[in-house]
Amino acid sequence: MPNSVLIGAQWGDEGKGKIIDVLTEDVDIVVRYQGGGNAGHTVEVGDERYILHLVPSGILREDTHCVIGNGVVVDPLTLSEEIRELEKRGFSLCGRLHVSDRAHVVLPYHRELDAGRENTSDENSKIGTTKRGIGPTYGDKASRRGIRMGDLVDENTLDEMIIERVDENNRVLAAMGAQPVEAAEVVTSYREVARFLAPYISDTVSLLHDAHADGKSILFEGAQGTMLDIDFGTFPYVTSSNATSGGACTGTGIAPNAIDRVIGVVKAYTTRVGAGPFPTELFDEAGETLSREGKEFGATTGRPRRCGWFDAVVARYSAMVNGVDLWAITKLDVLDSFESIKICVAYDCDGKRLERMPANIRQFERCRPIYEEMEGWCTSTREAAGYDDLPAAARLYLERLCELSGGELGIVSVGPRRASTLRIAL
Ligand code: IMP
Repeated sequence: MPNSVLIGAQWGDEGKGKIIDVLTEDVDIVVRYQGGGNAGHTVEVGDERYILHLVPSGILREDTHCVIGNGVVVDPLTLSEEIRELEKRGFSLCGRLHVSDRAHVVLPYHRELDAGRENTSDENSKIGTTKRGIGPTYGDKASRRGIRMGDLVDENTLDEMIIERVDENNRVLAAMGAQPVEAAEVVTSYREVARFLAPYISDTVSLLHDAHADGKSILFEGAQGTMLDIDFGTFPYVTSSNATSGGACTGTGIAPNAIDRVIGVVKAYTTRVGAGPFPTELFDEAGETLSREGKEFGATTGRPRRCGWFDAVVARYSAMVNGVDLWAITKLDVLDSFESIKICVAYDCDGKRLERMPANIRQFERCRPIYEEMEGWCTSTREAAGYDDLPAAARLYLERLCELSGGELGIVSVGPRRASTLRIAL
């Protein structure tokens, strides 16, 4: 299989974990390249359900190697818990999971700072983050105050680095009226977790280059989605990393010419968690149906997701900035009961028709969806075993989504099980 980057083309939660799980059947290595414990990939295998936050979903296939790249921010406590839980459920990770020594470490003060900023009384400055410390950790990386996984396992310098950073951040926490962090406790817990994680930490840049040179196939797994990308998303209502396909290079050390194709994952409708504009959001019965049928609750925080119709302006923009070759369209079955289905084809902004995504958040807030309506199929698609088993109206809907968004249809998913994944061109 060629080297592929798989990205979320909406606001995250597109069902990437499930698509990755299916595609890993044909790949040797799966790599996470950005984000951190804010991600939540849900995968169902048989009767078992797995929610993964940091470990790539490829771990659920015995022979697949998994890499957490340098672009990821790693909370070592979350990672060690996830490893222990997977091992308890019968997966062996040692020698199969590789964590970059260049990845930055999330520390307790990052979480406190994240929560402190979110707990502000000013509603307008809330992002609705997952409070996992993601923004402050990337902030420390950019301001060159971060601690990396390679530092974590260097017992000679770790204590000193932690004490110095805790001291500095406690002053910021105090100014925010938040609880300080106890340096001695952090040193003890991070030393202990460092010993547990040490066998997993390595130079993943070399590992990936060697694997590529040996002809191994690599799947780069994006977390979150394009509209949450720090550069291309709905800034400031975004996460702090590059969730788009370009992040696969900077977040792993693999060069662009080693990547053969880009797979964009979209839901057959749209959801978002957290604050920020969402033009096709529904507040009526249709929105409730999407939420109920799609079980739209965040895998990481359990928050209800906001639901709306498919937004082709978003998908077109995602196709453009990511270079999407193939689409994986998920959760088609959630639309089974609708008599008619809307697709947003453009925006009306102050009386002007917009075909492209505006950068300015205030302008985006004023965008109203211009809809096209299609007939629903009012039949269950759950049992479809192939594309041709889908009702004609469902096929027309999927074809229209691809036509409006640009790119070909690669996969359609009609349910949570592995068998509910219809492979068309992937
Ligand atoms: P942070 O990544 O925790 O800083 O949160 C920033 C924004 O990204 C918030 O709106 C979160 O709800 C959103 N977000 C972060 N991770 C995910 C995800 O995996 N799925 C969907 N939304 C996410």
